[in-house]
Amino acid sequence: MNISIILAAGEGTRMKSKLPKVLHKICGKPILEYVINASKSADVQKNVVIVGHGGDKVTEYFKGKDIFFENQPVGQDAPYGTGYAVMQGMGHIHDDSTVLVLCGDTPLITKETIDKLFDYHNKGGYGCTVLTALLDDPMGYGRIIRDEIGNISRIVEQKDTTDEEKQINEINSGIYCFNGKMLKYGLENIDDNNAQGEFYLTDVIEILKDEGYNVGAYIIKDPTEIHGINNRVQLSFSEEIMRKRINEEHMLNGVTMIDPDSTYIEEGVNIGCDTIIYPNTFIEGDTTIGSDCVIRSNSRIVNSKIDDNVVIESSLIEDSIVEFGTTIGPNAHLRPKSIIGKNVKIGNFVETKNSTLGDNSKAGHLAYIGDAEVGENVNIGCGVIFVNYNGKDKQITKVGNNAFIGSNSNLVAPVNIQDWAYVAAGSTINKDVEEGALSIARAHQVNKLNWVEKKDLKK
Ligand code: UD1
Ligand code: CA
Repeated sequence: MNISIILAAGEGTRMKSKLPKVLHKICGKPILEYVINASKSADVQKNVVIVGHGGDKVTEYFKGKDIFFENQPVGQDAPYGTGYAVMQGMGHIHDDSTVLVLCGDTPLITKETIDKLFDYHNKGGYGCTVLTALLDDPMGYGRIIRDEIGNISRIVEQKDTTDEEKQINEINSGIYCFNGKMLKYGLENIDDNNAQGEFYLTDVIEILKDEGYNVGAYIIKDPTEIHGINNRVQLSFSEEIMRKRINEEHMLNGVTMIDPDSTYIEEGVNIGCDTIIYPNTFIEGDTTIGSDCVIRSNSRIVNSKIDDNVVIESSLIEDSIVEFGTTIGPNAHLRPKSIIGKNVKIGNFVETKNSTLGDNSKAGHLAYIGDAEVGENVNIGCGVIFVNYNGKDKQITKVGNNAFIGSNSNLVAPVNIQDWAYVAAGSTINKDVEEGALSIARAHQVNKLNWVEKKDLKK
């Protein structure tokens, strides 16, 4: 059985944050989630995450996701180090297990690389295989020391390197494959006798080597995959790489992006082909966008379902559904639970909330539609307000099919405007309007002729 042990107990001091490091997000998801997903999508049957600092928050977030957690004791006097962390997971390991060790702060690692590492490890019959990388600037990483014939003999941590070893540019990614039995043996024999006073997992390599086991090193092709996150600069670097990956996948699936560098699409969003996305657009959470849509600049779409052929311009859409052929915006705000039918027009500065609008209805300008059930072919004039709140309760307004609500009207809920009813502009409606009726609820206009002259105002 292949088992992964994912190290996520470190404090992450350099993040300068109240949040555990591995819960910091890139492209909408915690960095640890990417590591777990890469592991799950590779040939791994069991995932064990070692948590410590902020561990309760981490386990809470991943509750119910088929992951095992082990707590590493933390605190001033507790032992520390990657070797000590892996020890916490040994209860899950059998002699014949193949153990994949991953770091929770390295979210760019891919399933493909993990598969290749397993393959290299198995074919070579190694006791341990280290995933390594060649870096122009190896500063900070453990260095790979090879013997005369090129076999890996040990790993030296940055703080323990000699000047000569500092020149080595092959580094330890912190990702490994171990034979279960050999990993146990190695961990039983490490100590904390080093510059940092930590139990280094890396010391297992030399121990196995000395016992006569073969240790392999698989050099990764693209070193960005092993980019770790220790501070917020590195967090933003990983975000940028992940964003590129996500956007490229959409583009290869047939989505046009005018400027992918300023298009922000979170992990897990679905977009249909021939949809065009303009710059400075944010598409987040559990969102699906159909095909042949146009999402123009400065739009943000969160947890929403947008059908085919929808046009959205400079608008905010949250937890809502927009059906086929509808246009939204510019500057519209669909608040949660807005369900907008087919071929609807939601125009400038229109706000909706917890409302359904039937097919072919229109609210072209400056309206507030809250807690409403609006039918089909309804016209909602400019400046109409659904007065849904009396200071205490939210109430429902119903507007039937083919109704016409004149501009600047107030519909004071609860109220029911039936099919084909007309409301005259400027009306304040607080009683139901019958089917086919015209309701005028405003003061009569009085024109006082020659009033200016009588008052002698022109003088
Ligand atoms: C480690 C490697 C180094 C490698 C580098 C790659 C060791 C001794 N060194 O160094 O060779 O080049 O990763 O990024 O292994 N963690 C725990 N518990 C602990 C300590 C760490 O869970 O007690 C976790 C951290 O949360 C982190 C991972 O292990 O996810 C790596 O720890 P970190 O302290 O960042 O190791 P490095 O010093 O970077
Ligand atoms: Ca690190």
